[in-house]
Amino acid sequence: MVLLSHLKRRIGAAVLAFGALLGAPAIAVAGDAQAGERSFARQCTACHVIRDDSGSIIMGTGARTGPNLFGLASRPAATADGFAYGPSMQQLAGRAVGWDENAFVSFVTAPSAFLQQRLGDRRASSRMAYLVRNPADAADIWAYLSRFSN
Ligand code: HEC
Repeated sequence: MVLLSHLKRRIGAAVLAFGALLGAPAIAVAGDAQAGERSFARQCTACHVIRDDSGSIIMGTGARTGPNLFGLASRPAATADGFAYGPSMQQLAGRAVGWDENAFVSFVTAPSAFLQQRLGDRRASSRMAYLVRNPADAADIWAYLSRFSN
């Protein structure tokens, strides 16, 4: 199934590229939020929740190993209320780095490498003991997550 949806996405990308060749109007090629919702449910809810400001859970079972990911697109990195980030993430918070698709995909596909690059510190590391293998999958998750913003 995973292979199949991957293949479908590849074909979708090829069709878009072909459309571009024919001079079709540019379509914003963003991730697929529905696929992202499934990936999020499968890969992220063991540690994260999406909980809105009124306290209602939008996704997940209330896991607290990682920060609440509600409003990610509208708040700087490492600023979820009440979460004890690791030292490198705390340093990042001091730099007011915003999450956008690029930063998000870089982070979730290689959390420590992202911090090392952003902080210019080869010893920086993330406490997130997980990574997304496929960047297209990460872009889908961003399409889903970025909906929940203030
Ligand atoms: C094994 C637990 C675990 C899993 C699974 C996990 N994370 Fe995390 N995540 C963490 C922890 C812990 C942190 C905080 C890292 C730190 O402080 O160094 C974090 C931080 C984050 C941040 C930074 C949030 C902020 O407040 O700036 C994002 C974005 C994120 N995770 C996304 C994801 C996504 C998307 C998935 C699923 C593909 C995922 N994580 C899966 C544990 C996890």
